[in-house]
Amino acid sequence: MQKTILLLPGDGIGPEVVRQAEKFIRAICRKTGINLRISHADIGGIAIDRHQNPFPQVTKDLAEQADALLLGAVGGNKWDHLPATQRPEKGLLGIRKHFDLFANLRPILVYKELVAGSSLKSHLVENLDLLIVRELTSGIYFGQPRGIKTLKDGQRYGYNTYGYQEHEIKRIAHIAFQAAQLRQKKLCSVDKANVLEATRLWRDVLTEVSRDYPDVSLVHMYVDNAAMQLVVQPKQFDVIVTGNMFGDILSDCAASLTGSIGMLPSASMNAANFGLYEPIHGSAPDIAGKDIANPMATLLSLAMLFRFSLNQQTIATDIEQAVVHTLAAGYRTRDIAVTEHIAPDLLLGTQAMGDQIIEAYLAIA
Ligand code: IPM
Ligand code: MG
Repeated sequence: MQKTILLLPGDGIGPEVVRQAEKFIRAICRKTGINLRISHADIGGIAIDRHQNPFPQVTKDLAEQADALLLGAVGGNKWDHLPATQRPEKGLLGIRKHFDLFANLRPILVYKELVAGSSLKSHLVENLDLLIVRELTSGIYFGQPRGIKTLKDGQRYGYNTYGYQEHEIKRIAHIAFQAAQLRQKKLCSVDKANVLEATRLWRDVLTEVSRDYPDVSLVHMYVDNAAMQLVVQPKQFDVIVTGNMFGDILSDCAASLTGSIGMLPSASMNAANFGLYEPIHGSAPDIAGKDIANPMATLLSLAMLFRFSLNQQTIATDIEQAVVHTLAAGYRTRDIAVTEHIAPDLLLGTQAMGDQIIEAYLAIA
């Protein structure tokens, strides 16, 4: 049966990196004979410009017809003046919520060629391989009530609500334990249970769910300590599971360990295994349109799409291998050019890097 991948390029460097994925999908079809359809839709700032809505109905319809979604990035200075409800980010939060994409998987891998680019000393990050499982459709990002109001004394008051229902904690806990079972069987649950009741419940539920997974060792850590441990001794972690906001913060922190946020993919899944795949780097408006963005995170997200949504393990592994081979051959985009003395023919722009990785993919037997 023909499957459809919906491309959501979005803003900033999104279109440039998603274009590399589109080329790659066509190369995959040519090489393997698999029959895939590609469709396109707007999300984020571009959707505000064209449809006055960061997640318009036409995008919703196309996404509902697709088998998997690949997104570039949303946001940019152009839309920064808009009120919170009309910002590009609302498009991303909207699509996450609409499809109930509660399970956000963010693998943090340090490639050996890029160890020297890490913000930490090499021995701390060599062979680092950890997975952040972030709850993505609840917590303070979505809690009600929320807003900014003016109090009787004329002072403005900004407020949000941090809350989790038991079933929301349970389902992300199961995802995390099952991920840990396939890895080193170590799960660290991050909370702030010493201060926040909502995360006291999080801790209790994680402990309860752990009884179903006796082969996985569970530890609990407060988020402030987890942030510190990530930059002091990151290799102690295998799988980290945490709520929406802590996951947002810790995943950027972990990203800095890998040398470049331009290397990190992600998958956001619902209970039916429908998924949205996106690089975690964001729209980087400062380098948009310059052909210097690193397409690797997007291509690694495409690999996750083939693995989780299309159940094409070989294609997924081959994309990942193509990235590894390209790094091993010395090719770099600017963000991962760790030495200053890189040969000029090895320093590639976005499009040339896309082509190079496709070439490496086609060379895999
Ligand atoms: C992320 C991003 C988003 C988030 C923004 C763009 C809304 O930072 O995916 O980590 O906060 O979830
Ligand atoms: Mg973030």
